[in-house]
Amino acid sequence: MAFNLKGRHLLTLADYSPKEIDYLIDFAIDLKRLKRAGVYPKSLKNKNIALIFEKPSTRTRCAFVVACNDEGAFPEYLGKNDIQIGKKESIADTAAVLGRMFDGIQFRGFKHESVEGLAAHAGVPVWNGLTDKYHPTQILADFMTVKETFGRLKGIKFAYVGDGRNNMANSLMIGAAKMGLDFRIVAPTDLYPEPAIQEMARGFAADSKATLTFTDQVAEGVAGCDVIYTDVWASMGEEDQIPARIAKLKDFQVNQAMMDATGNDEAIFLHCLPAFHNQETELARQFPEICEVSDAVFSGPASRVFDQAENRMHTIKAVMVATLA
Ligand code: CP
Ligand code: NVA
Repeated sequence: MAFNLKGRHLLTLADYSPKEIDYLIDFAIDLKRLKRAGVYPKSLKNKNIALIFEKPSTRTRCAFVVACNDEGAFPEYLGKNDIQIGKKESIADTAAVLGRMFDGIQFRGFKHESVEGLAAHAGVPVWNGLTDKYHPTQILADFMTVKETFGRLKGIKFAYVGDGRNNMANSLMIGAAKMGLDFRIVAPTDLYPEPAIQEMARGFAADSKATLTFTDQVAEGVAGCDVIYTDVWASMGEEDQIPARIAKLKDFQVNQAMMDATGNDEAIFLHCLPAFHNQETELARQFPEICEVSDAVFSGPASRVFDQAENRMHTIKAVMVATLA
């Protein structure tokens, strides 16, 4: 069944119903199939799309650009030093101007209030491409990958291990609560999601029959899981906290022993990326213990991380087409 999402923003999945989330995932699966078959519906012909980035990005930026190109739209990248936003011009004025020229606006940055401010004043759909608080388009790609693997979301046993209070943990928890998963945050107790977000997720879980578990006991948290998910231990903007996070999270590294502790041979490994899994990056050479996942798991048979990365493009395309076309 198609849903009318025209004109909607996507700031957090908290604003979307389970049926709408399911629709976007199925639509993305459909768009992936069409692209594989060489079919390009060009549903966004002549649309102009602004891509504002205060923080760097590989996947999100490229997903928006390729999705625009596939659908006949024109993307414009606006990096943090390219436009007046924040320094000489308020979020509200920037939104009003961009909304007069563009048909949709993607924002990636620090404060979640910034993307809310853009949405309040743009008059065109605004999509959150990551803030310190939420990363909703990532969750659509993650859940699409789960659905492609297991054929369903409801009842899937899903552990998010590591920094349990970052944008990924918050967003996965909300998504899982909406979609009826058996969701666990496996993290040190002082890195659990903030109480207000936990409370919101509990409200969604009461409707969907999702279960939400918070534990600092790794073996208990991952037992029986279908999906083990992790993210970097220090997010963009938190680089000064790397040594402290390594000290706190070293026992939460996803490695083969943790995958074995699921007791499930079919369990898969997911990661939003970028990931530290070897010493081939500048930061990993500086902090050799930074790896949140072992290279063996990252590169091993359970890993679906590059399907997940590809799915960023199909899901972002689905969001743009559903909210604009
Ligand atoms: N997963 C993700 O958002 O990747 P980028 O930071 O490369 O966009
Ligand atoms: N938590 C990470 C996610 C990157 C996609 C960050 O914010 O840096």
